[in-house]
Amino acid sequence: MATPLFHAKLTVQTQSHDYPIIITENSNVSSLESDAEDVVSNSAEKSSMASQIAPYIAGRQVLIVTNETVAPLYLKTLQEELEAQFTVKVCVLPDGEQYKNQTSINQIYDALMAEHFNRDVTLIALGGGVVGDMTGFAAASFMRGVNFIQIPTTLLSQVDSSVGGKTGINHAQGKNMIGAFWQPQMVLADMSTLKTLPARELSAGLAEVIKYALIMDADFLTWLEQHLPAMIAFDLAVLGEAVKRCCQYKADIVAQDERESGVRALLNFGHTFGHVIETHEGYGNWLHGEAVAAGMVQAAELSQKMGWLTSDDVARIKRVLVLANLPITPPAIDVQTALGLMGHDKKVKHGQIRLILLKSLGNAVLTNDFDAELLIEVLSQHH
Ligand SMILES: NC(=O)c1ccc[n+]([C@@H]2O[C@H](COP(=O)([O-])OP(=O)(O)OC[C@H]3O[C@@H](n4cnc5c(N)ncnc54)[C@H](O)[C@@H]3O)[C@@H](O)[C@H]2O)c1
Ligand SMILES: [Zn+2]
Repeated sequence: MATPLFHAKLTVQTQSHDYPIIITENSNVSSLESDAEDVVSNSAEKSSMASQIAPYIAGRQVLIVTNETVAPLYLKTLQEELEAQFTVKVCVLPDGEQYKNQTSINQIYDALMAEHFNRDVTLIALGGGVVGDMTGFAAASFMRGVNFIQIPTTLLSQVDSSVGGKTGINHAQGKNMIGAFWQPQMVLADMSTLKTLPARELSAGLAEVIKYALIMDADFLTWLEQHLPAMIAFDLAVLGEAVKRCCQYKADIVAQDERESGVRALLNFGHTFGHVIETHEGYGNWLHGEAVAAGMVQAAELSQKMGWLTSDDVARIKRVLVLANLPITPPAIDVQTALGLMGHDKKVKHGQIRLILLKSLGNAVLTNDFDAELLIEVLSQHH
């Protein structure tokens, strides 16, 4: 029997179906043998990505969707092993948030049509959140909905975007404006893929990890304070433990509120402020996770002004973010500009800005019941 270094299986319950998240550290990715001895000695018997997803592929047709960066790293082994059992085609998209658009979706449809694939096809998203969101949306819409599987290869996509069924693309006027809820058949988070992830992308993913602690679980915050040094050193077992915890939080939230009519909105903690930074600075200059990190500091500062957090709490949040190599100071943005950008956020309801704030560490609320003057103070603070 294979004895992977890390292995966990969780279940996500949704209205359409329940599906597993398998978190593992055992794929025999060809060019990427681990340097830990126990892994090397087990490498011959490690189960591959293909063998782990195959039981969740219903038909004979498979389209792997990936991008130009991830394909050279992880596509070959997966494709070859699946070919033993399935008709496998590949669609390699350009890399980048700027390609998360209708043109890329059309490329996926074109690949499906060229092969005369039908409703039995399973799409496989091999990549980060951009590939996952687009593959999911193509799966939701092709022939009114076909199966898909997520193989997230960034920390952010492993802890957040691959779970919960939000799929979609950007419109020139706004991020994620076109999309659908469409749940995958399974999620395979293989921690080994993180070995090639740039450190800056790992940190960006850690912002979402820290977010779960701040909104859901103060004990997890303490755990992170102890383990973040190992995590930024790419300790895959520790990262795997964190991914497991985060996926469990997300699975619980999605089971309660799949369509974001309530508790799921709390996952946007730091995002309304972060959205201002991302939009103002231009996508790509600040990574999403970096903007969320600085945004969480602003949300914490407003929570402090509300009398909910102490200055010690806010200092602790900043320290944790710094431990993860994340920024804690937003760029200087004119207050009126910031308020204008906040008004375009999807969380705005009936013209009121609603924010997720912290009542205490590990306890978040969605509220429009805050003093606008205090919000302006927070937005003016850093310049
Ligand atoms: N659906 C949701 O619920 C949800 C939630 C959060 C974010 N998102 C979306 O996710 C996207 C961000 O995802 P992301 O942070 O994964 O970004 P990403 O998909 O752009 O990946 C970041 C970079 O890392 C590269 N990469 C991916 N895996 C790699 C690996 N193993 N080794 C080396 N390089 C690798 C990618 O090619 C890319 O250049 C955004 O579009 C955002 O809107 C969706
Ligand atoms: Zn996010």
